[in-house]
Amino acid sequence: MVKKICCIGAGYVGGPTMAVIALKCPSIEVVVVDISVDRITAWNSDLLPIYEPGLEDVVKKCRGVNLFFSTDTEKHISEADIIFVSVNTPTKTCGIGAGKAADLTYWESAARMIADVAKSDKIVVEKSTVPVKTAEAIEQILTHNSKGINFQVLSNPEFLAEGTAIQDLFYPDRVLIGGRETPGGQKAIETLKEVYSNWVPEDRIITANLWSAELSKLAANAFLAQRISSVNAISALCEATGADITVVADAVGKNTSIGPEFLSASVGFGGSCFQKDILNLVYLCECHGLSEVALYWKHVVQINDYQKTRFVDMVVASMFNAVSDKKIAILGFAFKKDTGDTRETAAIDVCKGLLREKAEISIYDPHVTEDQIQRDLTMNKFDWDHPIHLQQMSPSPVKQVTVTWDAYEATKGAHGICILTEWDEFKQLDYKKIYDNMKKPAFLFDGRNVVDPEKLREIGFIVYSIGRPLDAWLKAHTSD
Ligand code: NAD
Ligand code: UDX
Repeated sequence: MVKKICCIGAGYVGGPTMAVIALKCPSIEVVVVDISVDRITAWNSDLLPIYEPGLEDVVKKCRGVNLFFSTDTEKHISEADIIFVSVNTPTKTCGIGAGKAADLTYWESAARMIADVAKSDKIVVEKSTVPVKTAEAIEQILTHNSKGINFQVLSNPEFLAEGTAIQDLFYPDRVLIGGRETPGGQKAIETLKEVYSNWVPEDRIITANLWSAELSKLAANAFLAQRISSVNAISALCEATGADITVVADAVGKNTSIGPEFLSASVGFGGSCFQKDILNLVYLCECHGLSEVALYWKHVVQINDYQKTRFVDMVVASMFNAVSDKKIAILGFAFKKDTGDTRETAAIDVCKGLLREKAEISIYDPHVTEDQIQRDLTMNKFDWDHPIHLQQMSPSPVKQVTVTWDAYEATKGAHGICILTEWDEFKQLDYKKIYDNMKKPAFLFDGRNVVDPEKLREIGFIVYSIGRPLDAWLKAHTSD
């Protein structure tokens, strides 16, 4: 019988996942611990550290009842039967595999902490996304000096998407549990299965060996990202030929073997997972001598970079190849709607591209703070994926950037607008009012296909919508 669960890492995965386990398993005490005091303080406050629809409701129901957030890592690890580890697994920034391989520093320190403080048998669950065979390394750390304690390592990758995390956790497509093919491993799998059985139908809980479970997570993310790069690659061809990506994607997705999901062309995928996990997969393939396979997956990331560069080039070329000192409004900075998360958001690369051209940028996002935006625009690549208190502080804010809390303010006096996140409210804006307050000609570059280009053209805007037929202006100014 599981009495207590401890989760190391109170982030986007640890927080929501444990809140839902606490809600669905009232007889289990669930404690989430973190090295970041600020994060734990925020989880214990009215202003949770992450914005996620439905999360506040779940936390309010369980917090102080059977859900707790604490910095007393040692106490809760030593008392728990099951320990989930949901810490950062960033891309390495230096040394062997830099720019590709996963940096397991935080995982290793969590494992060492478990080994140090455990006084009874534990099931240790990989919740973080990790390279294949990480469980083997973790086992070695845990069992070295284990004082006779039995540790079972399971792989239980998380498939939630941000913005829909609570729904994904309530009704998962599947829960995957991988373990050793030994009696001890199988028993541990059954124990974790029982926890999920409190709300997940039996046929949705898949069990596997450790390596299949670990690899499934990397493969699932690679497949999803590959669909986006596929549709984005076709979006470039649509613009060149006069085809419309929304029509093409709809027609393609009607094939039931393909399906309609993940076929929205965009300025590029972002988020903390896709790029990191594909690079990790690429590195694994290279390490196993599979250079062709590595190259195949690398192209998914390359097309994503191309899509962001293509967008910036389109903005600059349409505006007479000169955006220096021109105000450009950025609507949306988060990597997708319904989250305040900006990790690897396409908006960072687009803004940096425009800043290199000396544009003045005015940003509005309903859920991202000025501090966060400034940090993102000054941080080195991959530095974001470290515990908050270790992240590099921005040297000094970027002067050409202002952040507003209103779309009308952001667009006032602007020469152009870039829509970079598909927030629903961007569909409802009064674009006539916005147009009247802009410099002319007024440009709108829609990186998410949020607005109806024809309606905006009627108002007077010159409109670029990703993957859709270019108007005469754009054709004239962007053809080689
Ligand atoms: P996050 O940065 O939001 O949270 C990680 C937390 O771990 C941080 O609060 C950090 O302070 C803490 N931490 C790091 N080392 C620690 C230690 N030794 N002891 C205690 N706390 C420590 O990251 P996240 O988005 O929750 O992702 C966590 C893992 O889950 C990653 O491997 C990621 O790839 C994976 N994942 C993320 C998502 C997602 O949508 N964000 C989805 C599936 C899987
Ligand atoms: C992803 C996976 O979906 C999830 O299963 C995994 O557990 C974690 O990684 P997440 O990154 O939170 O989830 O969001 P997701 O909805 O997958 O979007 C990722 C990026 O792709 C966003 O920038 C989104 O805007 C973009 N995207 C998504 C597109 O550009 N087009 C699409 O059709 C779908």
